[in-house]
Amino acid sequence: MPAAVVADLAQNPGVLYGCDYNPEQWDRATWLEDMALMREAGIGLVAINIFGWSSINPAPGVWNFDDLDAMMDLLHENGIRVNLGTGTASPPPWLSTAYPEMLPMVEDGTRRYPGGRQAFCPSSPIYRAHAAAVVEAVAERYGSHPALALWHVSNEIGCHNALCHCDASVDAFRTWLEARYTTIDALNAAWGTSFWSQRYSAWDQILTPRAALSLRNPGQMLDFARFSSDAGLALYRAEAEIIRRHSDAPVTTNFMATAHIRTQDYWTWAGEMDVVANDHYIDRRLPDPTGEVAFAADLTRGLAGGDPWLLMETSTSAMNWQPYNIAMAPGELVRTISTHLARGADGICFFQWRASAQGAEKYHSALLPHAGTDSALWRQSVELGGLLERLAPVTGTRVSASTALLFSWESWWALEGEGRPSEAVQYLDQVHAAHRALDAAGVTVDVVRPGSDLSGYDLVIAPALHLVRDSEADDIAAAAERGASVLITFASGTVNENDRVGLGGYPAAFRDLLGLRVEEFAPLHPDTTVRLSDGTIGSIWSERIDVVDADVLSTFVDGPAQGSAAITRRAHGAGAAWYLATTPDDASYLTLIQRLVVEAGVPQLLPDHGRLDLIRRTGQGRSILFAINHTAEDATVTAHGHDLVHQESVTGRVVVPAGGVRIIEESA
Ligand code: GLA
Repeated sequence: MPAAVVADLAQNPGVLYGCDYNPEQWDRATWLEDMALMREAGIGLVAINIFGWSSINPAPGVWNFDDLDAMMDLLHENGIRVNLGTGTASPPPWLSTAYPEMLPMVEDGTRRYPGGRQAFCPSSPIYRAHAAAVVEAVAERYGSHPALALWHVSNEIGCHNALCHCDASVDAFRTWLEARYTTIDALNAAWGTSFWSQRYSAWDQILTPRAALSLRNPGQMLDFARFSSDAGLALYRAEAEIIRRHSDAPVTTNFMATAHIRTQDYWTWAGEMDVVANDHYIDRRLPDPTGEVAFAADLTRGLAGGDPWLLMETSTSAMNWQPYNIAMAPGELVRTISTHLARGADGICFFQWRASAQGAEKYHSALLPHAGTDSALWRQSVELGGLLERLAPVTGTRVSASTALLFSWESWWALEGEGRPSEAVQYLDQVHAAHRALDAAGVTVDVVRPGSDLSGYDLVIAPALHLVRDSEADDIAAAAERGASVLITFASGTVNENDRVGLGGYPAAFRDLLGLRVEEFAPLHPDTTVRLSDGTIGSIWSERIDVVDADVLSTFVDGPAQGSAAITRRAHGAGAAWYLATTPDDASYLTLIQRLVVEAGVPQLLPDHGRLDLIRRTGQGRSILFAINHTAEDATVTAHGHDLVHQESVTGRVVVPAGGVRIIEESA
């Protein structure tokens, strides 16, 4: 099925506005009130039956669709379209009581019990058979219901249970490995099992990487991560296949392209979605929560192949699952939503409609808070509906970029394996630092998968791209050959797809392109920094480099790699390959990116004054400029057109107030 048009999924006239709704938690009088209030807010798409299993199938062989039938009809009567959950996200207690062997097992061999959610092994044949029966019943019953707009398979597949070590997972892992390697010798070679006497002589000796007394085999760990991602995708496929027998509506599931979940390689999932949907919540535990929103949104657009995508869940204010659940500051929700829209979202949905009065998420914010309609949060929900309606010209437009940032879940897994040079090297930190510098430089960036077509890019950045296949390295070299500027940062290109180190000096995959050999890593204690000759303050990492054929732009002045090159550049074909051997302070990273941007001729969207996040979406004969001011100072930008937020014409120098947003439909 071709990609679904996000904006068309809902009844909204503008940008899709939706939410999760859990009517199981409320009585029918409340349902009626909810319908009226949803209409008042302008909600166009409602996700139901996400956690519906124990309601529709309360006991073995007992089915009761009365409430779901009524809710489907009620939403339809109210002109609200349905994003229908298959209901399989959380199996009911009766199932795990009857079949305790379906419960997930963590790496120490202990089971996890029901009482929360997702208490199942993804590879459990029992879970899969029962889930299939639920999907069959739901898809058959509602597959052509007039309210149905979208299928929502399960929920955040693998959020809690991605890594299961039970016997069913072990069996499935062995099957997966046999398909990958065919022979046990090939597996032994891939995993380097000569090390520590780990050689296998039969498939049935292989386990998932259960807790061991010492460091575990990295090849086994990496393949287990791949297998676990595939096991989640298999759940999606199984449900989608059943749905498609009963329904023509588009099918998707909600991704978690976010900072704290790394268990799904969504590059391998994305192509199977009729529309790419992501769940994203501001993570206050990060040093730069706002920057992470921007990165995640760019990543989601990358997963969608540049097509408009759907923000399936976000919060109106505080979450309840972080240590300190900070309420949104005034204006923060509009800035956050605008960040997603600027970077390609055509729909914004919230978890959830009405704040739960009971249950583990009762302190999570919602569109309709516990305080009721006489509240700033509710008024914000209504205002947001008006804003999203006014943003209709945004829908269907696209973001274009001439800079690519390579992102890889496999590199994330491999880089953060056990027994590594430094735990301070966190993959996402390195990716975020590069993205932040690009953002500060006013550069719009596409986040792309290694191995994807780089021909449209003038600047290619590979931050900590640790695991690289030969063909992927060739693609990057070819981009430089053709004229692009390429920046590779430390820890990149170190291992191949089997987590095997390329010998002869790091980074084997890029040694020739960069014209250097890293002889030895010299990581830094997280409390220390090093100085570089160009004034950069480096942290986390340094290394001892033998420069073979490159210009040295900066050297380590002190620290364990004193005297070694730290930043280099080598002309390659019509372009150039740059190398960065530390984590620079933000200001110096920006300076470096500025040089690359100028060399590569990459366009920059910069404010006249102050700091602004500026992104342009174009297409359908329209051009929309997003100006998002995350700072406490007014900023200005030159623009001509109609500001859709404030509903006013703007021309010339436009003030974007402190903490404010302008979304300007530009005149031709
Ligand atoms: C996830 C889940 C929702 C809810 C929210 C709370 O995104 O999909 O069911 O738990 O988190 O933030």
